[in-house]
Amino acid sequence: MTGWDWQSWRTVADLPKRDLMLRDTLTTLANKHLSDKGTTFAQAHAYTIVYDELLGPLRDSEITLLEIGLRHDPYYGDANHATSPSLSMWMEFFPKARIFAVDWNDFTPLTAGRVRVFQGDQGDPGFLRSLVSELPDLDIVIDDGSHASLHQQVSFKHLFPRLKPGGFYFIEDVHWQPPWEQSLPPVPLTSDLFKSPAMQCLLDVSFHVSEKLCCVRKKNAS
Ligand SMILES: C[S@@+](CC[C@H](N)C(=O)[O-])C[C@H]1O[C@@H](n2cnc3c(N)ncnc32)[C@H](O)[C@@H]1O
Repeated sequence: MTGWDWQSWRTVADLPKRDLMLRDTLTTLANKHLSDKGTTFAQAHAYTIVYDELLGPLRDSEITLLEIGLRHDPYYGDANHATSPSLSMWMEFFPKARIFAVDWNDFTPLTAGRVRVFQGDQGDPGFLRSLVSELPDLDIVIDDGSHASLHQQVSFKHLFPRLKPGGFYFIEDVHWQPPWEQSLPPVPLTSDLFKSPAMQCLLDVSFHVSEKLCCVRKKNAS
């Protein structure tokens, strides 16, 4: 038989293949779970368009993912921490992933099944040391926490060594820093640091979505 066999495509045997074709993208899931990483809710950063492209091939793998920062309370009008939009989104997108999450607010009641939540400050080296001692090696890290450059860089220093070769480390919103950042010890802006020739030489770095999303891909060992 040659060409497109539309009649056999309509058989029950082909249902799984059809289901795969109809699965929600990460962008659809971000919009559904009200995360501003998508294209409709709140600031609609559209980072999921990049994530769909880069992370889609890992969708059905047994990966490990860590996200820092679980919920922007001002969007939701309460602070009971019973849900996290992005955690719900990652769980639905990666059905076989083990998911780890960090927030300095208490989201630990969300620990269940393949999800484990830690409470702590991403800028505290002591907390980060104890965190990495409890983590497996990671395929994906997303830093959507305080957005302070010092915190992003301290977290990167502790977590990047735990990233597997070929893994992705994303730092969101590098165009914006919280006003209270001035009270922290001064460091270069994270976007400037990762654009520096020294870092560009050492690491595989790219910027996306109007330079707001920094992506570092760990090189495979040569
Ligand atoms: C932008 S929100 C995360 C939004 C969420 N990822 C989403 O897509 O809907 C930032 C989160 O980072 C947390 N956070 C802020 N500073 C932190 C710090 N120093 N350490 C850990 N978490 C922090 C806040 O409590 C808040 O839940």
